[in-house]
Parts: sequence; structure tokens; C-alpha cells
Amino acid sequence: MRRKTLTQFLIEQQRSEQIIGPELRLLVELVARACKSIGHVISKGELGDVLGSLETENIQGEVQKKLDVIANEMFVEANEWGGHLAALASEEMEAIHPVPNRYPKGEYLLLFDPIDGSSNVDVDLSVGTIFSVLRAPDDASGREIGERDFLQPGNQQVAAGYAIYGPQTLLVLTLGQGVFGFTLDREMGSWIMTHPNMRVPKQTNEFAINASNERHWNEPVRRYIDDCLRGETGPRGIDFNMRWTASMVADVHRILVRGGVFLYPADTRHTASGGKLRLLYEANPMAMLIEQAGGSATTGTARILDVEPTKLHQRIGVILGSADEVARIAAYHSLND
Ligand code: AHG
Ligand code: MN
Ligand code: MN
Ligand code: MN
Repeated sequence: MRRKTLTQFLIEQQRSEQIIGPELRLLVELVARACKSIGHVISKGELGDVLGSLETENIQGEVQKKLDVIANEMFVEANEWGGHLAALASEEMEAIHPVPNRYPKGEYLLLFDPIDGSSNVDVDLSVGTIFSVLRAPDDASGREIGERDFLQPGNQQVAAGYAIYGPQTLLVLTLGQGVFGFTLDREMGSWIMTHPNMRVPKQTNEFAINASNERHWNEPVRRYIDDCLRGETGPRGIDFNMRWTASMVADVHRILVRGGVFLYPADTRHTASGGKLRLLYEANPMAMLIEQAGGSATTGTARILDVEPTKLHQRIGVILGSADEVARIAAYHSLND
């Protein structure tokens, strides 16, 4: 079977479907190229002297891994020169990064998590890169881009996706019309479409949560997980399976392939911060992908994509995956109100 490359797919989207213009096509091509390079560096591991931690902390208060910083720099460098971006923002950069004056500027804003799941890098488990694309507000042309230009709800994203660096390297992408997965052909160096039109099954009996946080959970989450754990003889009448990789990319990828539900809820530790995961680099792009594949994404009480951000590094509770299961968890939250 002759499969489509990412480039062919993007040209089709531009030409016949008119879903994207040439600038967005270039943007996705450059993101894909950056992910290819990052995947290559990760795969060198100890031989490339890229493992381990630095002595620095990022704005999130996390100790940075060497790869967090390396991948961040690679991603900025690979994307800033193309002429299609106005500015970038990242989990690993305190402030936004406007495109330097030596390059032409465009209308798009690129937000990213250079290495998601970085605690897994040193132990050789799957990690990824997550990205989200917004359009700069109309009134932004000709003036300096500021943090407030990035504070748009996720329903304004024009594209989102991730690369996963696992046993295979894949790029999973939405341009707002379905979700498509491309496997990296390492010999050819090209992304080949292997997962056309990914769909999340409505039902599931698999959940993902870090159970070590149980004592911090709020009542609706506690009730939901308790129902699952009671299995066939409990209120659900079926046995549930659990998976937790500590790489959101890997957990979301599993859900896009075979269904499931992922929870990193806001819990009693997060009353001030709102949750652990970042709204703009993690929750919004993953919520767009999951919804585009027929699933749902909520904070428990609100659709993630409708949340109005108030700051760049805002955090939020995330519950996403198979639609029936997410609806059940949201219903438990509304009972609790
Ligand atoms: P990052 O490596 O970008 O900081 O993100 C890690 C996130 C996410 O990928 C994962 O679901 C979660 O943190 C894991 O957190 P715990 O270690 O608390 O389980
Ligand atoms: Mn981090
Ligand atoms: Mn992350
Ligand atoms: Mn990260």
C-alpha cells in the first residue's frame, strides 16, 4: 500500500480542502522537523551526554532536565526563522519569546512543552513534545506582541499536536478537522500517515491517574475511582484496568489509540494554583486533539477549551478521554455542587 507523507497530507489540506494556508503548512512542517531533531537527540541518551538534571529551576518550580533546556532551544531555533510566527511561548521560558528582528514576522503564535514527561527521560520511557497554534489578535500587527496576546481560550487554537518518542516516533496532529497520526520512517527521514482519522471509543474500562495522590483528591474523583476499583461486583458491573506513565503524551496517545480516561484533577493541594498541568501547553492542545477524535475534556466543572486564561503559565485540572466516562465524572462533580 502506498501511504501518504505528512507533506502530501498538508498540501492536500491546503489545495483541495482549503483547511490551511501556506503559512500554517510551513509552520507544521517546521514543527515536525524540530520534533524529528529532538527525537534524534533523545535517542542518543547517555552517548549524547543529554541525560540528567541541571541545577536550574524553571518558572514552574521544577528542576530542569538537561533535555528540557536542549529541546526548548532546538524548538525555538527551528521555528523562529520561517516568517510565519509573531512569537513563541514555552513551559521552560518564563517570558514569551517574540520573533527576533532579524527575521520576518507572521501572524501565528506557537506554544509548546518541549519535553513532556521529562522525569521519564533518564529511565528510557516514552516522552513527547506538545504544541498549540493560535493566531495573534487582529490588532497585534505592527506592534510588539505581549503575554496578553497568548491568553486566548483553547477553542481559538488553529492547530495542535504532539510528537511521541517511544518504541516508534509519531507525530499526531489536528488542524481542526479530525486527528491524523504519522510514523517517522527513520530510513527515509519522512513522516508517513499510519493513523488516519483517529477516534476515541465512547466507552472504556481503562483509567489513568496517579493513585499516590489519593489522599488529596476531592469527593467526585474519589467516588469515580472507587467505583472503578470495585470492579465487576461494584456499581459499574465491570472490571477496570489502570495505566499511568507520568508522560501525558503517552497516556493521551494510548487513549487516542484504544480509548480510556486520563485524570490529573485539581486536588486539595491546588486550591491556589488550579492544578498541576499547564493550560496553554498541555491541557488545551490535548483537549483539542481528544475532542477532534470524538472524546471530551473537562476540568470537572467546565469544558477545558472554553476556559479563559488569565496568565501564561496557568495550571488547571484535566480530565479527558472517552466521552461517556468523562460525562460520568462531570456528573459526579455537578452532584457535589
Ligand atoms: P513535564 O514533564 O512537561 O513537566 O510534564 C509532566 C506532567 C505530565 O506529563 C504527566 O502526566 C504528569 O506531569 C506526571 O505527574 P506526576 O509525576 O505527579 O505523576
Ligand atoms: Mn516540566
Ligand atoms: Mn508536560
Ligand atoms: Mn515539559
